[in-house]
Order: sequence, then C-alpha cells, then structure tokens
Amino acid sequence: MGTFSGQVALVTGAASGIGLAISRKLLEEGAKVVAYDINKTALDEAFASYGATVKIVAIDLTQQDQVNASVDEVIAEYGRIDMLINCAGITGITNTKSHEVCPENLQKVFELNFMSSFYTARAVLPQMLKANYGRILHMASVAGKEGNAGMLAYSSSKAAVIGMTKVQGKEYAETGITVNAMAPAVIRTPLVDAMPEAQVKYMTDKIPMKRCGTLDEAVNMALYIVSPQNSFTTGFTFDLTGGRATY
Ligand SMILES: NC(=O)c1ccc[n+]([C@@H]2O[C@H](COP(=O)([O-])OP(=O)(O)OC[C@H]3O[C@@H](n4cnc5c(N)ncnc54)[C@H](O)[C@@H]3O)[C@@H](O)[C@H]2O)c1
Repeated sequence: MGTFSGQVALVTGAASGIGLAISRKLLEEGAKVVAYDINKTALDEAFASYGATVKIVAIDLTQQDQVNASVDEVIAEYGRIDMLINCAGITGITNTKSHEVCPENLQKVFELNFMSSFYTARAVLPQMLKANYGRILHMASVAGKEGNAGMLAYSSSKAAVIGMTKVQGKEYAETGITVNAMAPAVIRTPLVDAMPEAQVKYMTDKIPMKRCGTLDEAVNMALYIVSPQNSFTTGFTFDLTGGRATY
C-alpha cells in the first residue's frame, strides 16, 4: 500500500520531463494516474508498461471543451479526482527583448501556461468540492517570481499562475482543498534543452548552488504538496531554486 493508494491524479504534461517523473512516482505510490498530453506517441511509449493504472488522454489542453469532456469521462469512470497536477507548459520564443516580442507567440504561451491550468482547475473543482477534499498543484517557475530578461511571455504567464494560485488557495481554504504552486529554477528536461544556450546560461548562472535542480528534487517536493499531509498550506508557491528566490 503506497501513500496514494486508491487516489486518482490528473497530471498534465505527463509525457515528458517533470510531469512524467511525477506521474511515475505517483503510480509507484499506488495512485491511478490520468496522463494528459498533446503528444500521444510519447504518452503511449512512456506508460506502455503500466497497464490499467494509467488512463492516457491525448488532447490539446488549450481547448476548454476537450478538457471538460475528458474530466467528465474521468469522473464517470473513477468517481473521484483527488489530485490535479498541471505540468503542461511551453517557453515560447525566448532570448528576445519586449519590443521584439511577437504578440501571437505571447498569446500562445498564455493559452497553455495560464489558460489550460485555469480550464483544468475549473473542471475538477466541482468534484473536489463534493468530496470536501482535493490537492491542486500548478507548476509555476522562478521566472514568474523574478522575471527572466528575454522571457516576457513565459515569465508573465507564470506570474499569472502564481496569482491564480493565491486566489484559488483563499477561495477554497475552508473546503478541504488546497491549491499550491511550485517555482523551480532550471531542471534539465526537453523544455530547457530546446532553449537557446545563452538563455539557459543566464538562468543557471543565477542559481547560488551553481547547479540545476534534479527531477528527483522536483518530484519529492511535488509529492509532498499533493499529499494528505500537506493540509495547512494553501495559496503558496513553493521554492525550488537552489537559493535563487528566498521568498
Ligand atoms: N524544466 C525546468 O527547468 C522548469 C523550470 C521551471 C518551471 N518549469 C515548468 O514545469 C512544467 C514542466 O516542464 P518540463 O521541463 O517538464 O517540460 P517538458 O517540455 O519536458 O514537458 C511539457 C509537456 O507539455 C506538453 N504540452 C505542450 N503543449 C501542450 C498542449 N497544448 N496540450 C497538452 N500538452 C501539451 C508537451 O508535449 C510536453 O510533454 C512546465 O509548466 C514548465 O514551465 C520547468
């Protein structure tokens, strides 16, 4: 029996990086995982050996109707949603000053990083309210706290996620539902590998521990945040920056 036996977790961005690592650990700890990602091939490969404990949902999370239909299906099938972990995210174009930013690209980043996290939270909250229990974790970023030069779209979208977390934490504070965020600095994943080296160096140089965070460090923090033990912290953005942000 693991810590999460019998619980159902919805994880977005589950095909890669942090979302994948969190999903696998939750499965090890006994949860059923609904794995959301736009990349069906990567989802199928990542969870090929997990059988019926994983439900794969390949959708574009920026489409609210697809999110709603899928959450309805999950509730019909499992009858409960204990955790929502929003990891789907993109950086958009980086290493670009604000006067050069392409508005369409900025909008695209907001549609995934902010709007999709709003859509999924909006869809699961009624079920969590019925159960008087829920754990929501939005993956923000230190870029949202500090503002990374060259990353207007990404930093602003993550600041919006931190704002949403504060609002939702307060709104549901008396319901048994906690809503928190995590703000990692640099964790080496495909998201970071796809960025210009100059931008990655800018971010990594700012970490006092002079190293990137590991997937294990991200997973351990995330699993505490979505556990039943995390019952008196809500609306908070947990720091995972090797000392870069001390608030
Ligand atoms: N890796 C880091 O250093 C770091 C630091 C701070 C914050 N974060 C945040 O953590 C989260 C996970 O990052 P990661 O590094 O694991 O990224 P990743 O690129 O490895 O994974 C992101 C996943 O999101 C999926 N995705 C993209 N667009 C989608 C869409 N429209 N619908 C559904 N799925 C979609 C991708 O297919 C991918 O599998 C992101 O929100 C990211 O901003 C990462």
